[in-house]
Amino acid sequence: FRSMNIAILGYGTVGSGVKEIIDHAVTKSTKQLHVSYILIRKGKAKTLPYMCDDIRTILQDTSVDVIVETMGGLEPAHTYILQALKSGKHVVTANKAVIAAYLKEFTDVAREHNVRIYYEASTGGGIPWIEGLAKAMRIDEVDRIHGIFNGTSNYILDHMQRYHASFEDILKEAQELGYAEADPSADIDGYDICNKLRISASLAYDYHVPDTFPVFGIRNITKQDVSYFSSLGYAVRLIAKTRRNANRYGCVVEPVLFEAGSLESNTQDNYNLITLHGKTIGDLKFFGQGAGKLPTANAIVQDLIDLNEGVCHMDPSFTNTMSYDETLCLRDYILRADEAARDELQDFSYEVKTFEGQEYLHIQKAEVYEMHQVMERMLKTDAHAFMASIYEREDD
Ligand code: HSE
Repeated sequence: FRSMNIAILGYGTVGSGVKEIIDHAVTKSTKQLHVSYILIRKGKAKTLPYMCDDIRTILQDTSVDVIVETMGGLEPAHTYILQALKSGKHVVTANKAVIAAYLKEFTDVAREHNVRIYYEASTGGGIPWIEGLAKAMRIDEVDRIHGIFNGTSNYILDHMQRYHASFEDILKEAQELGYAEADPSADIDGYDICNKLRISASLAYDYHVPDTFPVFGIRNITKQDVSYFSSLGYAVRLIAKTRRNANRYGCVVEPVLFEAGSLESNTQDNYNLITLHGKTIGDLKFFGQGAGKLPTANAIVQDLIDLNEGVCHMDPSFTNTMSYDETLCLRDYILRADEAARDELQDFSYEVKTFEGQEYLHIQKAEVYEMHQVMERMLKTDAHAFMASIYEREDD
């Protein structure tokens, strides 16, 4: 194998993790990787000789084979990635926001310029999820994916249940551990997961899925809600889910209740667990560290090795035609909302159960899309309302 010259854009948690793995290379494959530039923000101190603050220096240097983008966010990441591809450099990124938004554009530009863009680290952190999905898709049409795609929210929900703790206390802990996004609302309101679901569903359906599906997070969950779910034999997890039926598909992000014995209920701390379903393989689960410096850097380095060793990943074109079907998923829900907000539920029949003085409404077979619309209206009256659906295994 030949040696590969790499420029890392951004030197935060993930960028420095990539450098750490390469600096301490212990295998034949990692010893071939060389960091020739690190792009830092203008005005920041250059603490290493190969740090630079001008992207043009990197783009013009023909000895740079690959750009590793770890800046996060949409701009300037989007512009730099396009410029790198257009100047004949491969790109590896962990940036889920930019990949979710520009997946098709990047793929088209990379193809035009005969280079590749790999983004294993963007979804599921260190878990070889995209690779696993690609492998499953060599044989099956993947018709369902669901999973725990966010470490921070899983850490919060798991620790609230195991340690009978409040949402706020555990969020603070997760921030201190470095799993949470700079603005943790992306973790707790489901938008981080939304990007990861878009990437996964887009690959599964070879169609660039828009971000127009329902998302409901865990901002409003209370210690009492978690205790009630436990008393019913459930653990709650924040789940992204997609399914398709021919060229119709549905996507949703919401809290879901899993039976105590399930793998999801037993996915602890900041671990992720992603499940795909294909006709011949059935359910296939991917478990591991979905966040954190070295696991995320590990997935980036795997992509770098694949590029260096000529291993081709999935080659999607995103040219399928699909339509969003609002009626594809039906679920049972448990909901908590003030009397006043319940006016929105007049078209639903529900049973009211009381736990430690708090009323919970049990709703059967609601359309997921409709339920989210109702919740959006209820939140205007009761800003603290919460709901979770109950997991139901679908038939093969
Ligand atoms: N904030 C994200 C998480 C980081 O907690 O999963 C990984 O994408």
